[in-house]
Amino acid sequence: MSDNPVSNGPATPNAAVLNAGGKEVPLQVRSGSVGPDVIDIRKLYADTGMFTYDPGFTSTASCDSALTYIDGDEGVLLHRGYPIGELAEHSSFMEVSYLLLNGELPAKDELDTFTRTICRHTMLHEQLMQFYRGFRRDAHPMAIMCGVVGALSAFYHDSTDISDPNHRRISSHRLIAKMPTIAAAAFKYSVGQPFVYPDNTLSYTGNFLRMTFGVPAEKYEVIPAVERALDRIFILHADHEQNASTSTVRLAGSSGANPFACIAAGIACLWGPAHGGANEAALNMLREIGTPDKIAHYIERAKDKNDPFRLMGFGHRVYKNYDPRATVMQSTVREVFDALKVTDPVFETALQLEDMALNDDYFREKKLFPNVDFYSGVILSAIGFPTTMFTALFALARTVGWVAQWNEMISDPGQKIGRPRQLYTGPTERAYVPLDKR
Ligand code: CMC
Repeated sequence: MSDNPVSNGPATPNAAVLNAGGKEVPLQVRSGSVGPDVIDIRKLYADTGMFTYDPGFTSTASCDSALTYIDGDEGVLLHRGYPIGELAEHSSFMEVSYLLLNGELPAKDELDTFTRTICRHTMLHEQLMQFYRGFRRDAHPMAIMCGVVGALSAFYHDSTDISDPNHRRISSHRLIAKMPTIAAAAFKYSVGQPFVYPDNTLSYTGNFLRMTFGVPAEKYEVIPAVERALDRIFILHADHEQNASTSTVRLAGSSGANPFACIAAGIACLWGPAHGGANEAALNMLREIGTPDKIAHYIERAKDKNDPFRLMGFGHRVYKNYDPRATVMQSTVREVFDALKVTDPVFETALQLEDMALNDDYFREKKLFPNVDFYSGVILSAIGFPTTMFTALFALARTVGWVAQWNEMISDPGQKIGRPRQLYTGPTERAYVPLDKR
């Protein structure tokens, strides 16, 4: 493939030529506002009868998007142009949610109105609360999240017409607002405590903390430093371009499925240990390693191709540099320890593991760095969340990204159903053999 101007295609310097089957096929090259150009192959099959092959989508851009930009080599993450570090330091999760949904940072009155709107949707239909009783007490919170979020579509019929912008707006607000209530109830159910109803005088994150850790018998005081740290964790997880769960939401939505069903699909995808489940797996791994003297053994295991063990919270498809979210996460650990006057030896293990891995040729050559999940578990555990809740918290925060991406897709007039093709490797056509002849 070359990026020279084509002779028989559009006279644009932004073009590539594919030599396929002895035929020169001009392909348009499109440029975004920043980042790598893309070769537009939409007409390739019509022109050549060939598909492209890219399992895992390592070289495939699946859509246009103006939400989030990642430069994996430089370790840059921007939401609507704003660096994640600045948002984490100065912004709030509600403000970042507004930004992702609307494209601009809100003015004060816009933020107040948005926050009030989200607050008004925090309660769950009472009948939906009965759903929880159908689950075993030891159900994983993500199992409950998949079920309950999917079930929202059975309750909120007045916001499932995806062709109506008003329905799309209300369903988006409902999803963002109800996620903390759903996640907190999953936790309460697992510990056998009564559900705590939302208190809309609290912040989005303060309300979630109270619904999770409050009990009717006592007044719950939100600790501002913890509220701020958790809010920051939500900001760090809010969106991340076309990752597996976001692509799942987009693919589910491309058929016209309702947003509640689409987000339930995203939650299912997020659950896997290669994706959002890594935060739970990372803390379990750190606890299993236990003391720094065992780190070398686990690093050797991670490098051994015959051992399925991987360093959880390490490596990323896009980041070939330090994940900027991990930097913020690491400093937040100290902040939470100071606020709660606690410490956890697992943090020391994590720091030493990071140091040893970053000085190891295997990890250096493969450009494997800590990702967002490496330190988040240490913080969440210090706050009091059990490991099984970690991925549910990720889902809660990522809901805003999923919803914003889903809205972006649905409002694109060129939107089509997502339908990849395949390289078929099965048997060619053959005659059916009756049962008594086999
Ligand atoms: N420990 C040891 N080796 C690793 C690791 C790791 N954590 N990650 C990648 N490698 C090796 C891998 O074995 C492969 O080696 P080789 O080239 O010799 O076959 C090479 O690095 C490239 O890895 P890959 O699996 O081809 O890369 P990928 O882009 O398909 O996978 C990943 C990315 C995140 C799934 C992977 O790095 C991984 O499994 N990490 C651990 C799980 C994790 O922390 N996931 C959270 C990701 S960030 C949050 C999120 O997006 O949900």
